[in-house]
Order: sequence, then structure tokens, then C-alpha cells
Amino acid sequence: MKTIALIVAAGRGERAGGGLPKQYRPLAGVPVLRRSLQPFLAHPRIDAVRVVIADGHQDAYAAATAGLALLAPVTGGAERQDSVRRGLESLAGEAADAVLIHDAARPFVPAAMIDRVLDALADAPAALPVLPVVDTLKRGADGAVAETVPRDGLWRAQTPQGFRYAEILAAHRAAAASPPATDDAALAERAGLRVALVEGSEEAGKLTTAEDLARAEARLAAALE
Ligand code: C5P
Repeated sequence: MKTIALIVAAGRGERAGGGLPKQYRPLAGVPVLRRSLQPFLAHPRIDAVRVVIADGHQDAYAAATAGLALLAPVTGGAERQDSVRRGLESLAGEAADAVLIHDAARPFVPAAMIDRVLDALADAPAALPVLPVVDTLKRGADGAVAETVPRDGLWRAQTPQGFRYAEILAAHRAAAASPPATDDAALAERAGLRVALVEGSEEAGKLTTAEDLARAEARLAAALE
């Protein structure tokens, strides 16, 4: 099974503050993007890796990925969904059977999590790594609790999300004119594909805010002590 990892890094990273988008910031000296690519480049079941970047970030990309064996980057779009669709379209000539779609903002994906996603693709066209919801959920209205939402059967979705290539490309094409989804499994669902749930990892959390970056940096520093 030829498998390609598609890493979306075309976000502007505004929520993390500062000038440089978060995927190009150094984490203990190594750019977030470079860290995010390593588990895929090192994985024996992944044949190639392509990154989707924002127009204007070419220099930051080149600096962050110097020396790595990657397919040439492609340019993303205004929404994450546009970036993924462009990335998928760019893989049309690669004869991929499967694609793993991953957020560049998740730098610590364990190899075993990649294996779980790929294993699930043997029996389903899509595979989603998830973690249980541990907090009690409330719906709010006008500054007060409107109701408590039962958390049974609810999951937090992570990436990498795995798909059979032809199916997810078709799902993205079909959704191109619809309001954007925040992950790719949502488009697979919309297309009527079965999305298998597999166990995610707390390590694979997304770095969104400046605090997330600071926490990750502290964790890396502690690991080196
Ligand atoms: O904004 P958010 O944290 O949900 O972004 C998730 C991932 O999608 C990030 O790695 C970001 O770089 C990427 N993205 C993208 N193109 C966009 C917006 C986000 O590739 N237009």
C-alpha cells in the first residue's frame, strides 16, 4: 500500500501571537514543523511526505526543512479545507493508495499512533484517532448554563487522520463549495464513508496558543535534564 503523508502548514498561526506562524517557531531550538515531520519521515510504512504551505512562507519553510527528504511543497488556501484539497489534488500523479492528513501544529505524534491509523485502513476507507472527553460538557447561553451535554460517546478528534486516497479526494472535491469543515473526517462522514475510530494520544495534542508552545518547550527541557 503506497502511503503519503500530507502535512498542512498553511495557517497564519494568529492565535499563538507574535510575527512568525507557530509551525515555524523554534521549540527547544527545532522548528515546530521540522518536529512534526520527523515521525512521518522516520516511519517505515510511509513512502513520501508533502507539506502544504502558505504563499509568502517559502523562506521559512526552506529554513525549517533544510536537508529533509520531502516532496516539493504546494501552496494552500484561505481555509484549512482549501489547503488539504490543494494538497490532495497535487498528489494525483503519485499513485497513492492511502494518505495521512496531519496538522503541522501537532509535533509529537507517536509512531504507534500512525500504525493504529494505518492498520484501521485495512477495513475502513477512513480512520480517525480520538481521545475520550474527560470534562463535563455544558452548553451556555447568555452567560449561564443552558444544559449539560452527556459526554457518553463523544470524542476529541486528532490527526493524523487516515484515508484511502481516491475516497478522500472525491469527498473534498464534493465539499469544495460547502462551508468549511475543521477536519477531514467530517468530509468523509458527509460523503457517507465509514470512519473507524482508533486510539489517539495525549502526546499528539495541537499547539494552538502561546501557552501551548511554552508548555511544550518546558516539557522538552525537562526531558533533557
Ligand atoms: O487553525 P488550526 O489550528 O485549526 O490549523 C490546523 C492546521 O491546519 C495547522 O497546521 C495549520 O497550519 C493548517 N492550516 C492550513 N491552511 C489554512 C489554515 C490552517 O494549512 N488556511
